[in-house]
Amino acid sequence: MKQFLSVADVSSIPQLVEEALEMKNGHVQFNEFGQGLKLGMVFLNPSLRTRLSTEMAAKNLGMEVQVLNMGSDTWGLEFGEGAVMNQDKPEHVKEAAGVIGRYFDIVGLRSFPGLMSKVEDDAETVFRSFGKYVDKPLLSMESATRHPLQSLADLITIAEHSKKKRPKIALTWAPHVKALPQAVPHSFAEWMLATGHELHIAHPAGLELDPSFTDGAFITHNQQEALEDADFIYVKNWSMREPYGKTYNGGGEWMLREDSLKGASEAKIMHCLPVRRNIELSDELLDSPRSMVLNQAENRLWSAQVVLKKMIESIHEKRKETVGH
Ligand code: CP
Repeated sequence: MKQFLSVADVSSIPQLVEEALEMKNGHVQFNEFGQGLKLGMVFLNPSLRTRLSTEMAAKNLGMEVQVLNMGSDTWGLEFGEGAVMNQDKPEHVKEAAGVIGRYFDIVGLRSFPGLMSKVEDDAETVFRSFGKYVDKPLLSMESATRHPLQSLADLITIAEHSKKKRPKIALTWAPHVKALPQAVPHSFAEWMLATGHELHIAHPAGLELDPSFTDGAFITHNQQEALEDADFIYVKNWSMREPYGKTYNGGGEWMLREDSLKGASEAKIMHCLPVRRNIELSDELLDSPRSMVLNQAENRLWSAQVVLKKMIESIHEKRKETVGH
C-alpha cells in the first residue's frame, strides 16, 4: 500500500478488518516487522486520538516515530505552482515534502480543509501536493475530504459489536458551534457503502453531502425516520456545501438525546470525538452503556496498526525487488 486515503487504496476491506481484529485479539504480533523504519507524522491541525494511536501503532510494529507540528514549529508553506514567494510563506511544499520524504520511510499527514474554496478542498490540494513531492508511502491522518483511519476504526467497532450480519446504520447530522469539515461523514458513508452496509443519512434541508460519497444511502430530512430500528447511530456535525463552509443556523432539535431513541431501543451510539456535550449529544447518552465512543477511539490503534503494516509490506516487497535486480 503506497497511499491510504480512500477505500480505493485497499485491496480487500473485509480482510483488513479481520487482520486488525487478529492483531487486537493478540493472535498475531509484528513487533519487529517495521524495525529500522521511520514514521514521520506531520500535523497541520490539532489532534489527540490520531496522534497518540498512530504513534503507538508504529511503535508496536517496531518503527521509530517523529512528530512535526507544522505552522507553530516550522516555516509557513506555499502550495501554488509557479508562485512568486514574496509574501509571508517562506517555504514551498516542493522542498518541504521532498525533505520530509528523505528523512522518513512512511509519512502521515493531517491537513484539514480550509472551508474557503470547495474546489481547492475537494481537489485535496494539500494532501495531493505532499503525495507528489514526498516520494514515500503517504498516510492520511484526516485530510480535506476524508478521515480513513477513523472510518476503518468505526468499521472494526461495528464488526465487533453487531449482532446482525447486515445491521441498520444511521448517520445523523448534529448541531455545533462552529463550521466543521465534511471529511468524517463523507468517509464514514464511503466505507459503510463500500462494505455493503444499509446506511440511512438524516440532516436538515441545506446540509446535503457530496452525492459521490453517499450514492446508495437512504437520505431523509426526517431524523426519526432514519433512526427507526437502527442498530448503530453515528452522530456528527458538518458544515454546508452550499454556501460552502458555512454553519447551519438552527437545528438545535437535532441534538441526539434519550428521547430521540424511542424507535431505536437497541441502538448503539457512535461519534468520532471530540464531541460537544449537550450540543451534539446529551450527557445521558454519552454516559450510557449505549455509547461506543471509547471503543471507537480504542480501535484507532488497530486501524492505524493494520494500515501501517500494509505499507511496511510494500516497502519490504520493493526492497526485495531492488535486491533481485
Ligand atoms: N477522531 C479524531 O481523529 O480525533 P483527533 O482529532 O483528536 O485526532
